[in-house]
Amino acid sequence: MKLTSNLISGIVILFFVFVSADDSNDWWKSSILYEIFIRSFKDSDGDGTGDLNGITTKLDHFVHLGIDSIYLTPFYKSPMDDMGYDVSNYTEVDPMFGNMNDFERLVHEVENRGMKIVIDLVINHCSDNHEWFKKSVNKIKPYDEYFIWKDAKGFDKNGEPIPPNNWISVFGGSAWEWNANRKQFYLHQFGRQQPDFKLRNTNVKNEMKKILEFWFVKGVHGFRIDAPKHFYEDEHFRDEPFLNTKKHKTGGFTYNDFNHIYTTDLWETYEFINELRLFTDQLQKTRGGIERIFVAEAYTDMNNTMAYYGTKHFKVTHYPFNFGLVSLENPVTANEIDSKIMKWITNMPKGETPNWNLENHDHRRMNSKTSKEHATIILMNVMMLPGVVYLYYGQEIGMMNGLVRFDQIQDHLGGSEKKKFITRDYERSPMQWDDTMNAGFTSNLEAYLPIDPTYWKLNVERQKAEHNSFYTMFKNLTRLRQTNTCKYGELKTQIVSKWMYIISRTLPGYPTYYVITNFGPEYETIDLLDYIVDDTSVLTVETSSANSGYIYKHKFKIDNPFPNLFVMKPFSGVVLSTIK
Ligand code: GLC
Ligand code: MG
Repeated sequence: MKLTSNLISGIVILFFVFVSADDSNDWWKSSILYEIFIRSFKDSDGDGTGDLNGITTKLDHFVHLGIDSIYLTPFYKSPMDDMGYDVSNYTEVDPMFGNMNDFERLVHEVENRGMKIVIDLVINHCSDNHEWFKKSVNKIKPYDEYFIWKDAKGFDKNGEPIPPNNWISVFGGSAWEWNANRKQFYLHQFGRQQPDFKLRNTNVKNEMKKILEFWFVKGVHGFRIDAPKHFYEDEHFRDEPFLNTKKHKTGGFTYNDFNHIYTTDLWETYEFINELRLFTDQLQKTRGGIERIFVAEAYTDMNNTMAYYGTKHFKVTHYPFNFGLVSLENPVTANEIDSKIMKWITNMPKGETPNWNLENHDHRRMNSKTSKEHATIILMNVMMLPGVVYLYYGQEIGMMNGLVRFDQIQDHLGGSEKKKFITRDYERSPMQWDDTMNAGFTSNLEAYLPIDPTYWKLNVERQKAEHNSFYTMFKNLTRLRQTNTCKYGELKTQIVSKWMYIISRTLPGYPTYYVITNFGPEYETIDLLDYIVDDTSVLTVETSSANSGYIYKHKFKIDNPFPNLFVMKPFSGVVLSTIK
Protein backbone atom coordinates (compact mmCIF):
# COMPACT_ATOMS: atom_id res chain seq x y z
CA MET A 1 0.00 0.00 0.00
CA LYS A 2 1.47 3.34 -1.02
CA LEU A 3 1.10 6.67 0.71
CA THR A 4 -1.90 8.82 -0.06
CA SER A 5 -0.64 11.91 1.74
CA ASN A 6 -1.19 14.30 -1.16
CA LEU A 7 -4.87 13.67 -1.09
CA ILE A 8 -6.58 17.05 -0.91
CA SER A 9 -9.83 15.43 -0.05
CA GLY A 10 -11.04 11.96 -0.64
CA ILE A 11 -13.84 9.65 0.18
CA VAL A 12 -13.56 5.94 0.49
CA ILE A 13 -16.68 3.91 0.15
CA LEU A 14 -16.68 0.18 0.14
CA PHE A 15 -19.17 -1.34 -2.17
CA PHE A 16 -19.74 -5.05 -2.30
CA VAL A 17 -21.78 -7.14 -4.61
CA PHE A 18 -21.57 -10.77 -3.68
CA VAL A 19 -20.90 -13.21 -6.44
CA SER A 20 -23.71 -15.70 -6.16
CA ALA A 21 -23.56 -19.26 -7.45
CA ASP A 22 -26.58 -18.97 -9.72
CA ASP A 23 -26.65 -15.49 -11.11
CA SER A 24 -29.00 -15.90 -14.06
CA ASN A 25 -31.51 -13.87 -12.07
CA ASP A 26 -28.90 -11.17 -11.61
CA TRP A 27 -28.68 -10.49 -15.34
CA TRP A 28 -29.69 -6.88 -14.82
CA LYS A 29 -27.32 -5.98 -11.99
CA SER A 30 -24.36 -4.82 -14.04
CA SER A 31 -26.14 -4.43 -17.36
CA ILE A 32 -26.23 -1.53 -19.75
CA LEU A 33 -29.87 -0.67 -20.35
CA TYR A 34 -30.02 0.96 -23.78
CA GLU A 35 -33.04 3.15 -24.48
CA ILE A 36 -34.43 2.89 -27.98
CA PHE A 37 -36.68 5.82 -28.73
CA ILE A 38 -38.32 3.76 -31.47
CA ARG A 39 -39.45 6.55 -33.74
CA SER A 40 -35.88 7.79 -34.12
CA PHE A 41 -33.84 4.60 -34.22
CA LYS A 42 -34.19 2.86 -37.59
CA ASP A 43 -36.86 2.94 -40.28
CA SER A 44 -37.33 -0.36 -42.12
CA ASP A 45 -40.30 0.39 -44.38
CA GLY A 46 -39.30 3.76 -45.79
CA ASP A 47 -42.02 5.91 -44.25
CA GLY A 48 -39.55 8.18 -42.48
CA THR A 49 -40.33 6.82 -39.01
CA GLY A 50 -38.40 4.27 -36.98
CA ASP A 51 -40.14 0.94 -36.34
CA LEU A 52 -39.83 -2.48 -34.69
CA ASN A 53 -38.37 -4.21 -37.75
CA GLY A 54 -35.80 -1.44 -37.92
CA ILE A 55 -34.63 -2.39 -34.43
CA THR A 56 -34.47 -6.08 -35.38
CA THR A 57 -32.18 -5.29 -38.31
CA LYS A 58 -29.83 -3.45 -35.97
CA LEU A 59 -29.52 -5.94 -33.10
CA ASP A 60 -25.98 -6.88 -34.07
CA HIS A 61 -24.99 -3.30 -33.34
CA PHE A 62 -25.57 -4.16 -29.67
CA VAL A 63 -23.73 -7.44 -29.88
CA HIS A 64 -20.74 -5.65 -31.41
CA LEU A 65 -20.81 -3.03 -28.67
CA GLY A 66 -21.33 -5.44 -25.79
CA ILE A 67 -24.74 -4.08 -24.81
CA ASP A 68 -26.95 -6.68 -23.17
CA SER A 69 -30.39 -5.15 -22.73
CA ILE A 70 -32.65 -2.76 -24.58
CA TYR A 71 -35.55 -0.68 -23.32
CA LEU A 72 -38.24 0.25 -25.82
CA THR A 73 -40.32 3.41 -25.54
CA PRO A 74 -44.07 2.81 -26.11
CA PHE A 75 -45.02 1.09 -29.37
CA TYR A 76 -48.66 0.52 -28.43
CA LYS A 77 -51.59 1.87 -30.39
CA SER A 78 -51.66 5.62 -29.89
CA PRO A 79 -52.75 8.90 -31.50
CA MET A 80 -49.18 10.09 -30.69
CA ASP A 81 -50.14 13.23 -28.86
CA ASP A 82 -47.25 12.45 -26.51
CA MET A 83 -45.20 10.19 -28.81
CA GLY A 84 -46.91 7.03 -27.65
CA TYR A 85 -47.13 7.94 -23.97
CA ASP A 86 -50.83 8.29 -24.71
CA VAL A 87 -51.94 4.70 -25.24
CA SER A 88 -55.26 3.93 -26.92
CA ASN A 89 -54.79 0.15 -26.86
CA TYR A 90 -52.31 -1.56 -24.54
CA THR A 91 -52.19 -4.92 -26.29
CA GLU A 92 -51.90 -3.79 -29.89
CA VAL A 93 -48.89 -2.48 -31.80
CA ASP A 94 -49.35 0.89 -33.47
CA PRO A 95 -49.20 0.44 -37.28
CA MET A 96 -46.55 3.18 -37.34
CA PHE A 97 -44.19 0.71 -35.62
CA GLY A 98 -45.34 -2.54 -37.26
CA ASN A 99 -47.51 -5.37 -35.95
CA MET A 100 -47.54 -8.08 -33.29
CA ASN A 101 -45.59 -10.51 -35.49
CA ASP A 102 -42.85 -7.92 -35.77
CA PHE A 103 -42.76 -7.58 -32.01
CA GLU A 104 -42.62 -11.34 -31.48
CA ARG A 105 -39.82 -11.65 -34.01
CA LEU A 106 -37.91 -8.88 -32.25
CA VAL A 107 -38.23 -10.63 -28.87
CA HIS A 108 -37.11 -13.88 -30.47
CA GLU A 109 -34.07 -12.27 -32.08
CA VAL A 110 -33.19 -10.50 -28.84
CA GLU A 111 -33.25 -13.83 -27.02
CA ASN A 112 -31.22 -15.51 -29.76
CA ARG A 113 -28.47 -13.07 -28.95
CA GLY A 114 -28.71 -13.63 -25.22
CA MET A 115 -30.00 -10.10 -24.76
CA LYS A 116 -32.93 -8.81 -22.71
CA ILE A 117 -35.84 -6.52 -23.55
CA VAL A 118 -37.60 -4.10 -21.22
CA ILE A 119 -40.81 -2.31 -22.21
CA ASP A 120 -42.70 0.73 -21.01
CA LEU A 121 -45.66 0.43 -18.67
CA VAL A 122 -47.65 3.65 -19.03
CA ILE A 123 -50.43 3.15 -16.52
CA ASN A 124 -50.84 6.49 -14.83
CA HIS A 125 -52.92 7.61 -17.78
CA CYS A 126 -54.03 6.52 -21.23
CA SER A 127 -55.21 8.37 -24.33
CA ASP A 128 -58.60 10.06 -24.48
CA ASN A 129 -59.01 7.89 -27.60
CA HIS A 130 -58.97 4.71 -25.54
CA GLU A 131 -62.25 2.75 -25.58
CA TRP A 132 -62.29 2.83 -21.79
CA PHE A 133 -62.28 6.60 -21.76
CA LYS A 134 -64.97 6.89 -24.43
CA LYS A 135 -67.14 4.50 -22.40
CA SER A 136 -66.38 6.43 -19.27
CA VAL A 137 -67.56 9.64 -20.89
CA ASN A 138 -70.83 7.87 -21.66
CA LYS A 139 -71.03 6.46 -18.12
CA ILE A 140 -71.03 2.86 -19.33
CA LYS A 141 -70.39 0.53 -16.40
CA PRO A 142 -67.84 -0.34 -15.07
CA TYR A 143 -65.83 2.17 -17.13
CA ASP A 144 -67.68 5.13 -15.66
CA GLU A 145 -65.38 4.77 -12.65
CA TYR A 146 -62.10 4.16 -14.54
CA PHE A 147 -61.05 7.81 -14.50
CA ILE A 148 -61.11 10.70 -12.05
CA TRP A 149 -64.25 12.70 -12.68
CA LYS A 150 -65.33 15.73 -10.66
CA ASP A 151 -68.17 18.23 -10.86
CA ALA A 152 -67.41 21.86 -11.60
CA LYS A 153 -66.81 24.01 -8.55
CA GLY A 154 -69.31 26.43 -10.03
CA PHE A 155 -69.72 28.48 -13.18
CA ASP A 156 -68.24 31.92 -13.92
CA LYS A 157 -70.24 34.89 -15.19
CA ASN A 158 -69.81 33.68 -18.79
CA GLY A 159 -71.21 30.31 -17.83
CA GLU A 160 -67.80 28.63 -18.04
CA PRO A 161 -67.26 25.74 -15.61
CA ILE A 162 -64.74 26.37 -12.81
CA PRO A 163 -62.25 23.52 -12.15
CA PRO A 164 -62.62 21.65 -8.84
CA ASN A 165 -59.31 22.91 -7.46
CA ASN A 166 -55.98 24.59 -8.30
CA TRP A 167 -54.09 21.53 -9.54
CA ILE A 168 -51.76 22.21 -12.46
CA SER A 169 -50.65 19.68 -15.07
CA VAL A 170 -46.97 18.85 -15.64
CA PHE A 171 -47.31 20.13 -19.20
CA GLY A 172 -48.88 23.42 -18.03
CA GLY A 173 -52.40 24.75 -17.46
CA SER A 174 -55.10 23.31 -15.23
CA ALA A 175 -54.96 19.57 -14.60
CA TRP A 176 -58.73 19.51 -15.16
CA GLU A 177 -60.43 19.32 -18.54
CA TRP A 178 -64.15 19.86 -18.97
CA ASN A 179 -66.06 17.20 -20.82
CA ALA A 180 -69.21 18.72 -22.29
CA ASN A 181 -70.76 15.30 -22.77
CA ARG A 182 -70.47 14.01 -19.22
CA LYS A 183 -70.67 17.56 -17.88
CA GLN A 184 -67.83 16.91 -15.51
CA PHE A 185 -64.11 17.58 -15.33
CA TYR A 186 -61.57 14.78 -15.70
CA LEU A 187 -58.10 14.87 -14.21
CA HIS A 188 -54.95 14.78 -16.35
CA GLN A 189 -51.56 15.17 -14.69
CA PHE A 190 -49.94 15.40 -18.17
CA GLY A 191 -51.54 16.56 -21.44
CA ARG A 192 -55.29 17.04 -21.71
CA GLN A 193 -55.39 14.06 -24.12
CA GLN A 194 -54.00 11.90 -21.30
CA PRO A 195 -56.73 11.25 -18.69
CA ASP A 196 -55.44 9.84 -15.38
CA PHE A 197 -56.70 6.44 -14.28
CA LYS A 198 -58.48 5.99 -11.00
CA LEU A 199 -55.95 3.55 -9.61
CA ARG A 200 -57.90 3.09 -6.39
CA ASN A 201 -60.51 1.19 -8.39
CA THR A 202 -59.93 -2.58 -8.19
CA ASN A 203 -61.28 -3.07 -11.71
CA VAL A 204 -58.64 -0.68 -13.03
CA LYS A 205 -55.91 -2.40 -11.04
CA ASN A 206 -56.98 -5.71 -12.52
CA GLU A 207 -56.83 -4.27 -16.03
CA MET A 208 -53.21 -3.26 -15.33
CA LYS A 209 -52.39 -6.76 -14.17
CA LYS A 210 -53.89 -8.16 -17.36
CA ILE A 211 -51.65 -5.84 -19.39
CA LEU A 212 -48.63 -7.01 -17.42
CA GLU A 213 -49.51 -10.65 -17.96
CA PHE A 214 -50.06 -10.10 -21.67
CA TRP A 215 -46.53 -8.77 -22.22
CA PHE A 216 -45.03 -11.17 -19.71
CA VAL A 217 -46.33 -14.04 -21.82
CA LYS A 218 -44.89 -12.41 -24.95
CA GLY A 219 -41.50 -12.85 -23.32
CA VAL A 220 -40.35 -9.42 -22.17
CA HIS A 221 -37.80 -9.27 -19.37
CA GLY A 222 -38.85 -6.16 -17.58
CA PHE A 223 -41.01 -3.09 -17.27
CA ARG A 224 -40.12 0.56 -16.95
CA ILE A 225 -42.91 2.12 -14.93
CA ASP A 226 -43.80 5.49 -16.39
CA ALA A 227 -44.54 8.43 -14.09
CA PRO A 228 -45.42 6.44 -10.92
CA LYS A 229 -45.15 9.43 -8.63
CA HIS A 230 -48.33 10.72 -10.29
CA PHE A 231 -50.35 7.53 -9.69
CA TYR A 232 -52.44 8.82 -6.79
CA GLU A 233 -53.97 12.10 -5.68
CA ASP A 234 -55.50 13.35 -2.47
CA GLU A 235 -58.93 11.85 -1.91
CA HIS A 236 -60.25 15.17 -0.60
CA PHE A 237 -58.99 17.10 -3.63
CA ARG A 238 -57.42 19.83 -1.51
CA ASP A 239 -55.76 22.83 -3.18
CA GLU A 240 -51.97 22.58 -3.37
CA PRO A 241 -49.92 25.26 -1.60
CA PHE A 242 -48.14 27.92 -3.64
CA LEU A 243 -44.38 28.11 -3.55
CA ASN A 244 -44.26 31.39 -5.40
CA THR A 245 -46.30 33.93 -3.49
CA LYS A 246 -45.44 36.78 -5.84
CA LYS A 247 -47.10 35.02 -8.73
CA HIS A 248 -49.97 34.19 -6.39
CA LYS A 249 -51.08 37.78 -6.87
CA THR A 250 -50.20 38.18 -10.55
CA GLY A 251 -51.30 34.77 -11.87
CA GLY A 252 -49.49 32.89 -14.66
CA PHE A 253 -48.57 29.85 -12.59
CA THR A 254 -46.43 27.05 -13.84
CA TYR A 255 -46.08 23.52 -12.50
CA ASN A 256 -43.07 24.46 -10.41
CA ASP A 257 -44.91 27.25 -8.59
CA PHE A 258 -46.72 24.69 -6.43
CA ASN A 259 -45.74 22.26 -3.75
CA HIS A 260 -47.28 19.04 -5.08
CA ILE A 261 -48.10 17.42 -1.79
CA TYR A 262 -51.53 16.26 -2.91
CA THR A 263 -50.76 15.04 -6.42
CA THR A 264 -47.38 13.30 -6.14
CA ASP A 265 -45.57 10.69 -4.08
CA LEU A 266 -48.61 9.35 -2.25
CA TRP A 267 -47.78 6.20 -0.34
CA GLU A 268 -50.33 4.14 -2.28
CA THR A 269 -47.95 4.31 -5.27
CA TYR A 270 -45.54 1.98 -3.51
CA GLU A 271 -48.35 -0.30 -2.39
CA PHE A 272 -49.68 -0.63 -5.91
CA ILE A 273 -46.25 -1.37 -7.38
CA ASN A 274 -45.75 -3.91 -4.61
CA GLU A 275 -49.03 -5.51 -5.68
CA LEU A 276 -47.84 -5.62 -9.31
CA ARG A 277 -44.54 -7.05 -8.20
CA LEU A 278 -46.16 -9.85 -6.20
CA PHE A 279 -48.44 -10.55 -9.13
CA THR A 280 -45.43 -10.83 -11.45
CA ASP A 281 -43.52 -12.99 -8.99
CA GLN A 282 -46.47 -15.33 -9.01
CA LEU A 283 -46.49 -15.43 -12.81
CA GLN A 284 -42.82 -16.22 -12.68
CA LYS A 285 -43.41 -19.10 -10.31
CA THR A 286 -46.11 -20.65 -12.45
CA ARG A 287 -44.60 -19.91 -15.83
CA GLY A 288 -40.92 -20.10 -15.03
CA GLY A 289 -38.16 -18.08 -16.60
CA ILE A 290 -35.67 -15.58 -15.31
CA GLU A 291 -36.44 -12.70 -13.03
CA ARG A 292 -38.41 -9.92 -14.71
CA ILE A 293 -37.42 -6.48 -13.53
CA PHE A 294 -39.32 -3.36 -12.60
CA VAL A 295 -37.65 0.02 -12.88
CA ALA A 296 -39.32 3.26 -11.88
CA GLU A 297 -39.08 6.64 -13.52
CA ALA A 298 -38.98 8.75 -10.38
CA TYR A 299 -38.24 12.45 -10.48
CA THR A 300 -38.60 13.09 -6.79
CA ASP A 301 -36.65 13.77 -3.61
CA MET A 302 -34.09 11.33 -2.25
CA ASN A 303 -36.32 9.67 0.36
CA ASN A 304 -39.21 9.11 -1.98
CA THR A 305 -36.83 7.90 -4.67
CA MET A 306 -35.11 5.40 -2.40
CA ALA A 307 -38.49 4.06 -1.26
CA TYR A 308 -38.83 2.55 -4.75
CA TYR A 309 -36.11 0.07 -3.78
CA GLY A 310 -38.53 -1.33 -1.20
CA THR A 311 -37.31 -3.73 1.46
CA LYS A 312 -36.80 -7.45 1.74
CA HIS A 313 -40.35 -7.87 2.98
CA PHE A 314 -41.97 -5.15 0.91
CA LYS A 315 -40.73 -5.45 -2.65
CA VAL A 316 -41.26 -2.44 -4.85
CA THR A 317 -39.02 -2.03 -7.93
CA HIS A 318 -35.56 -3.44 -8.67
CA TYR A 319 -34.36 0.13 -8.88
CA PRO A 320 -35.62 3.65 -9.45
CA PHE A 321 -33.77 5.66 -12.08
CA ASN A 322 -31.02 7.83 -10.70
CA PHE A 323 -31.32 11.19 -12.44
CA GLY A 324 -28.73 12.92 -10.25
CA LEU A 325 -26.14 13.24 -13.01
CA VAL A 326 -28.59 14.37 -15.68
CA SER A 327 -28.33 17.93 -14.39
CA LEU A 328 -24.54 18.17 -14.85
CA GLU A 329 -23.62 21.35 -16.69
CA ASN A 330 -20.41 23.30 -17.21
CA PRO A 331 -18.18 23.69 -15.39
CA VAL A 332 -18.02 20.19 -13.91
CA THR A 333 -15.71 19.92 -10.90
CA ALA A 334 -14.32 16.78 -9.30
CA ASN A 335 -16.19 17.66 -6.15
CA GLU A 336 -19.49 18.04 -7.95
CA ILE A 337 -19.35 14.75 -9.81
CA ASP A 338 -18.16 12.97 -6.69
CA SER A 339 -20.92 14.33 -4.51
CA LYS A 340 -23.53 13.30 -7.07
CA ILE A 341 -22.14 9.78 -7.24
CA MET A 342 -21.81 9.46 -3.47
CA LYS A 343 -25.24 10.91 -2.83
CA TRP A 344 -26.81 7.90 -4.51
CA ILE A 345 -24.47 5.33 -3.03
CA THR A 346 -24.78 6.58 0.53
CA ASN A 347 -28.58 6.94 0.38
CA MET A 348 -29.20 3.62 -1.30
CA PRO A 349 -30.43 0.82 0.97
CA LYS A 350 -27.70 -1.71 1.72
CA GLY A 351 -27.19 -4.47 -0.79
CA GLU A 352 -29.18 -2.79 -3.57
CA THR A 353 -27.93 -2.01 -7.08
CA PRO A 354 -27.14 1.56 -8.11
CA ASN A 355 -27.77 2.94 -11.60
CA TRP A 356 -26.53 5.90 -13.59
CA ASN A 357 -28.36 7.97 -16.19
CA LEU A 358 -26.99 10.86 -18.22
CA GLU A 359 -29.54 11.23 -21.01
CA ASN A 360 -33.00 10.14 -22.08
CA HIS A 361 -35.83 11.25 -24.37
CA ASP A 362 -36.91 13.99 -21.93
CA HIS A 363 -33.56 15.79 -21.48
CA ARG A 364 -31.10 17.66 -23.66
CA ARG A 365 -28.05 15.68 -24.76
CA MET A 366 -25.02 15.90 -22.48
CA ASN A 367 -22.77 16.75 -25.43
CA SER A 368 -24.75 19.89 -26.14
CA LYS A 369 -25.29 20.91 -22.52
CA THR A 370 -21.63 20.58 -21.57
CA SER A 371 -19.17 19.98 -24.40
CA LYS A 372 -18.09 17.03 -26.44
CA GLU A 373 -14.99 16.68 -24.28
CA HIS A 374 -16.95 16.85 -21.04
CA ALA A 375 -19.60 14.39 -22.17
CA THR A 376 -16.85 11.94 -23.11
CA ILE A 377 -15.13 11.94 -19.74
CA ILE A 378 -18.39 11.99 -17.79
CA LEU A 379 -19.54 8.88 -19.64
CA MET A 380 -16.14 7.26 -19.09
CA ASN A 381 -16.52 7.74 -15.33
CA VAL A 382 -20.09 6.50 -15.26
CA MET A 383 -19.20 3.37 -17.23
CA MET A 384 -16.69 2.38 -14.56
CA LEU A 385 -19.14 2.68 -11.65
CA PRO A 386 -20.83 -0.34 -10.10
CA GLY A 387 -24.42 -1.19 -11.09
CA VAL A 388 -26.53 -0.43 -14.14
CA VAL A 389 -25.63 2.14 -16.78
CA TYR A 390 -28.59 3.59 -18.64
CA LEU A 391 -27.70 4.62 -22.16
CA TYR A 392 -29.75 6.70 -24.58
CA TYR A 393 -29.48 5.78 -28.28
CA GLY A 394 -26.72 7.75 -29.97
CA GLN A 395 -24.75 8.21 -26.76
CA GLU A 396 -22.35 5.53 -27.98
CA ILE A 397 -21.19 7.91 -30.71
CA GLY A 398 -21.65 11.16 -28.81
CA MET A 399 -24.68 12.46 -30.67
CA MET A 400 -25.62 16.13 -30.25
CA ASN A 401 -29.04 17.77 -29.86
CA GLY A 402 -30.62 17.95 -33.29
CA LEU A 403 -31.42 21.21 -35.07
CA VAL A 404 -35.19 21.53 -35.28
CA ARG A 405 -37.03 24.45 -36.86
CA PHE A 406 -40.25 25.69 -35.37
CA ASP A 407 -42.31 24.31 -38.26
CA GLN A 408 -40.66 20.90 -37.91
CA ILE A 409 -41.57 20.38 -34.27
CA GLN A 410 -43.32 17.08 -33.49
CA ASP A 411 -43.42 17.12 -29.71
CA HIS A 412 -45.84 19.71 -28.42
CA LEU A 413 -45.75 18.35 -24.89
CA GLY A 414 -49.07 16.61 -25.06
CA GLY A 415 -50.58 19.27 -27.27
CA SER A 416 -50.41 22.11 -24.80
CA GLU A 417 -50.63 24.98 -27.29
CA LYS A 418 -48.95 27.64 -25.20
CA LYS A 419 -45.84 25.53 -24.75
CA LYS A 420 -45.12 24.90 -28.42
CA PHE A 421 -41.67 26.36 -28.09
CA ILE A 422 -40.72 23.91 -25.36
CA THR A 423 -40.15 20.67 -27.20
CA ARG A 424 -38.14 17.54 -26.53
CA ASP A 425 -37.45 17.01 -30.23
CA TYR A 426 -33.85 18.26 -29.95
CA GLU A 427 -32.79 15.15 -28.06
CA ARG A 428 -34.93 12.90 -30.27
CA SER A 429 -33.23 13.46 -33.65
CA PRO A 430 -32.78 10.30 -35.77
CA MET A 431 -29.90 7.93 -35.11
CA GLN A 432 -26.84 8.63 -37.23
CA TRP A 433 -25.81 5.29 -38.71
CA ASP A 434 -23.64 6.35 -41.66
CA ASP A 435 -22.94 9.21 -44.07
CA THR A 436 -25.51 8.25 -46.73
CA MET A 437 -28.82 10.07 -47.25
CA ASN A 438 -30.58 10.73 -43.94
CA ALA A 439 -27.66 9.15 -42.10
CA GLY A 440 -28.90 5.68 -43.05
CA PHE A 441 -31.91 6.16 -40.78
CA THR A 442 -34.54 6.04 -43.52
CA SER A 443 -34.72 5.55 -47.29
CA ASN A 444 -37.51 8.12 -47.40
CA LEU A 445 -36.53 11.56 -48.74
CA GLU A 446 -37.62 13.08 -45.47
CA ALA A 447 -37.23 11.74 -41.95
CA TYR A 448 -40.03 12.55 -39.47
CA LEU A 449 -37.57 14.82 -37.64
CA PRO A 450 -34.58 16.43 -39.36
CA ILE A 451 -31.26 14.59 -39.29
CA ASP A 452 -28.65 16.55 -37.41
CA PRO A 453 -26.17 18.14 -39.85
CA THR A 454 -23.23 16.60 -37.97
CA TYR A 455 -24.11 13.17 -39.39
CA TRP A 456 -21.61 13.30 -42.29
CA LYS A 457 -18.80 12.80 -39.80
CA LEU A 458 -20.60 11.87 -36.59
CA ASN A 459 -21.96 8.42 -37.41
CA VAL A 460 -21.64 4.79 -36.32
CA GLU A 461 -19.94 3.51 -39.46
CA ARG A 462 -17.21 6.10 -39.51
CA GLN A 463 -16.49 5.82 -35.80
CA LYS A 464 -16.36 2.05 -36.00
CA ALA A 465 -13.49 2.38 -38.45
CA GLU A 466 -11.50 4.90 -36.39
CA HIS A 467 -9.23 3.50 -33.72
CA ASN A 468 -9.59 6.42 -31.31
CA SER A 469 -13.21 7.40 -31.91
CA PHE A 470 -15.84 7.86 -29.25
CA TYR A 471 -17.38 4.57 -30.34
CA THR A 472 -14.09 2.71 -29.91
CA MET A 473 -13.60 4.17 -26.45
CA PHE A 474 -17.14 3.22 -25.55
CA LYS A 475 -16.67 -0.33 -26.79
CA ASN A 476 -13.55 -0.64 -24.66
CA LEU A 477 -15.54 0.53 -21.69
CA THR A 478 -18.30 -2.05 -22.20
CA ARG A 479 -15.56 -4.71 -22.28
CA LEU A 480 -14.13 -3.41 -19.00
CA ARG A 481 -17.59 -3.41 -17.42
CA GLN A 482 -17.81 -7.14 -18.03
CA THR A 483 -14.73 -7.89 -15.92
CA ASN A 484 -15.25 -9.32 -12.45
CA THR A 485 -13.55 -6.28 -10.96
CA CYS A 486 -16.12 -3.93 -12.46
CA LYS A 487 -19.04 -6.26 -11.78
CA TYR A 488 -18.23 -7.16 -8.19
CA GLY A 489 -15.36 -4.94 -7.05
CA GLU A 490 -15.13 -2.17 -4.51
CA LEU A 491 -15.47 1.45 -5.50
CA LYS A 492 -13.16 4.10 -4.17
CA THR A 493 -13.10 7.72 -5.26
CA GLN A 494 -10.49 10.42 -4.72
CA ILE A 495 -10.91 14.14 -5.24
CA VAL A 496 -7.36 15.15 -6.12
CA SER A 497 -7.94 18.82 -6.85
CA LYS A 498 -10.69 21.10 -8.10
CA TRP A 499 -10.59 19.35 -11.46
CA MET A 500 -8.73 16.08 -10.98
CA TYR A 501 -10.72 13.01 -10.01
CA ILE A 502 -9.79 9.36 -9.61
CA ILE A 503 -12.09 6.37 -9.41
CA SER A 504 -10.67 2.97 -8.60
CA ARG A 505 -12.26 -0.46 -8.74
CA THR A 506 -10.61 -3.30 -6.89
CA LEU A 507 -11.35 -6.96 -6.28
CA PRO A 508 -8.92 -9.24 -4.48
CA GLY A 509 -7.17 -11.52 -6.95
CA TYR A 510 -8.20 -9.48 -9.99
CA PRO A 511 -6.66 -6.48 -11.77
CA THR A 512 -7.44 -3.03 -10.41
CA TYR A 513 -8.81 -0.29 -12.68
CA TYR A 514 -8.22 3.43 -12.28
CA VAL A 515 -10.17 6.15 -14.06
CA ILE A 516 -8.12 9.34 -14.01
CA THR A 517 -9.96 12.43 -15.16
CA ASN A 518 -9.10 16.07 -15.59
CA PHE A 519 -12.39 17.99 -15.73
CA GLY A 520 -10.56 21.32 -15.93
CA PRO A 521 -9.22 23.62 -18.64
CA GLU A 522 -5.49 23.39 -17.80
CA TYR A 523 -2.82 20.72 -17.85
CA GLU A 524 -2.64 18.88 -14.51
CA THR A 525 0.20 16.77 -13.20
CA ILE A 526 0.04 14.21 -10.41
CA ASP A 527 2.46 11.74 -8.92
CA LEU A 528 0.74 8.44 -9.62
CA LEU A 529 2.33 6.83 -6.57
CA ASP A 530 0.25 9.04 -4.33
CA TYR A 531 -3.00 7.62 -5.62
CA ILE A 532 -2.31 4.04 -6.62
CA VAL A 533 -3.33 1.61 -3.90
CA ASP A 534 -1.79 -1.57 -5.37
CA ASP A 535 1.76 -2.76 -5.25
CA THR A 536 2.29 -2.76 -8.95
CA SER A 537 5.24 -1.94 -11.15
CA VAL A 538 3.26 -1.38 -14.34
CA LEU A 539 0.05 0.39 -15.35
CA THR A 540 -1.59 -0.25 -18.74
CA VAL A 541 -3.86 2.09 -20.69
CA GLU A 542 -7.20 0.30 -21.17
CA THR A 543 -8.95 3.16 -22.90
CA SER A 544 -8.74 6.93 -23.08
CA SER A 545 -10.44 9.98 -24.47
CA ALA A 546 -8.94 10.78 -27.87
CA ASN A 547 -7.63 14.15 -26.64
CA SER A 548 -5.64 12.58 -23.78
CA GLY A 549 -2.73 11.49 -25.93
CA TYR A 550 -2.62 8.15 -24.10
CA ILE A 551 -2.53 5.20 -26.44
CA TYR A 552 -4.44 1.95 -25.95
CA LYS A 553 -2.29 -0.74 -24.27
CA HIS A 554 0.61 1.63 -23.64
CA LYS A 555 2.43 0.61 -20.43
CA PHE A 556 3.86 2.85 -17.71
CA LYS A 557 6.54 1.71 -15.34
CA ILE A 558 5.91 2.75 -11.76
CA ASP A 559 9.19 3.11 -9.91
CA ASN A 560 9.18 3.75 -6.23
CA PRO A 561 10.73 5.96 -4.80
CA PHE A 562 11.17 8.22 -7.87
CA PRO A 563 8.31 10.56 -8.68
CA ASN A 564 6.06 9.16 -11.38
CA LEU A 565 4.68 12.29 -12.91
CA PHE A 566 1.54 11.77 -14.90
CA VAL A 567 0.25 14.57 -17.09
CA MET A 568 -3.41 14.97 -17.93
CA LYS A 569 -4.43 17.30 -20.74
CA PRO A 570 -7.48 19.57 -20.32
CA PHE A 571 -10.86 17.80 -20.30
CA SER A 572 -9.30 14.39 -20.78
CA GLY A 573 -9.65 10.99 -19.17
CA VAL A 574 -7.86 7.67 -19.14
CA VAL A 575 -8.52 4.22 -17.70
CA LEU A 576 -5.44 2.37 -16.41
CA SER A 577 -5.21 -1.21 -15.18
CA THR A 578 -2.66 -3.15 -13.16
CA ILE A 579 -2.48 -5.74 -15.95
CA LYS A 580 1.18 -6.29 -16.81
C1 GLC B 1 -42.69 10.16 -18.84
C2 GLC B 1 -42.07 10.08 -20.21
C3 GLC B 1 -42.40 11.33 -20.97
C4 GLC B 1 -43.91 11.46 -21.05
C5 GLC B 1 -44.52 11.43 -19.65
C6 GLC B 1 -46.01 11.30 -19.70
O1 GLC B 1 -42.12 11.20 -18.09
O2 GLC B 1 -40.70 9.87 -20.12
O3 GLC B 1 -41.81 11.32 -22.24
O4 GLC B 1 -44.22 12.66 -21.67
O5 GLC B 1 -44.07 10.32 -18.92
O6 GLC B 1 -46.40 10.01 -20.07
MG1 MG C 1 -41.21 3.04 -40.59
